[in-house]
Amino acid sequence: MPIILGIESTAHTFGVGVVKDGKILSNVKKSYTTESGGIIPMEAAKHHNEVKREVYSEALKDVGIKEDGIDAIAFSQGPGLAPCLLEGMKFAKELSNKLGKSIVPVNHCVAHLEIGKITKAKNPVMLYVSGANTQIIAYSSGKYRIFGETLDVGVGNFIDNFGRYAGIGFPAGPKIEELARNSNKYVELPYNVKGMDITLSGILTKLKNMIESKDYKIEDLAYSMQETVFAMLVETAERALAHTGKSELLLGGGVGCNKRLQEMCEIMCKERGAKFFCPPASLLVDNGAMIAYLGEIMFNAGIKEKDPDIMPRQRTDQVDVKWR
Ligand code: ATP
Ligand code: FE2
Repeated sequence: MPIILGIESTAHTFGVGVVKDGKILSNVKKSYTTESGGIIPMEAAKHHNEVKREVYSEALKDVGIKEDGIDAIAFSQGPGLAPCLLEGMKFAKELSNKLGKSIVPVNHCVAHLEIGKITKAKNPVMLYVSGANTQIIAYSSGKYRIFGETLDVGVGNFIDNFGRYAGIGFPAGPKIEELARNSNKYVELPYNVKGMDITLSGILTKLKNMIESKDYKIEDLAYSMQETVFAMLVETAERALAHTGKSELLLGGGVGCNKRLQEMCEIMCKERGAKFFCPPASLLVDNGAMIAYLGEIMFNAGIKEKDPDIMPRQRTDQVDVKWR
């Protein structure tokens, strides 16, 4: 059985994971965070460059192998922030040259999806909710098709922006979830669903104005934001289940860590007799293990590249799913 190393570096996180025969042997990461303000791509790339060797050594140590025990190196090719992607690719190429092993370029979004197989979901509709991405995806005829998506910002970036106006550092998601738990006072917000797509910038403007007016408690805004936006996500996911005739929902991406979102998905699935699957938080957020996991599947299908480049704007439905 080959041992596959995976490198993740699309945005805030530099991660290295090791996978063998579909089992995660290690999953180490270090993430760039800020006290206030959002992510600065060049700063995040600098962070990745500084921590890469430490993260790599730790990942190998966890498995108890030396680097010559690695059979292939997978890395996140895109989508993501170019300076961050470059750090990951440079490191993958350095290792590939040094060890004489193949490189497997992996699409980050598809990795978020494929890692869901670890939950035993077989043919799910996936609600993929991360920083830059918000998509409802399902497999059909050789591609992962996007059935619905945000027409403006990703839900994680939206939450982080809301947090920034409220003076919360990056990432804001976990803090907003905590604040929301301390309120049950709903204040009306716009509800923007268009078929299977959603928009978030109108809600963000409204929230920003409410914060500036100083008439609202941040807990109430956090609560109302979650109730509104998560209902929009669950509604579109349910519509995708109905349209595709599938009966499994899989959650993926960092926003999937949110317990209230998980609960709402669970309720919707129960009501329509579908099954709900959610990987552990360590595999929902950006991580190297999911890159190694999909890397292994692709490597076993004979997919590798001599000199791949980064693809900062690669879309989920551009990837030829040759391994299914
Ligand atoms: P992608 O490149 O796939 O778009 P990403 O690089 O933004 O992903 P992820 O780690 O998948 O990274 O997701 C990070 C996002 O998840 C951040 O916007 C963060 O605020 C959000 N998040 C994390 N935990 C929670 C939570 N408990 N509730 C809501 N949002 C959360
Ligand atoms: Fe991600």
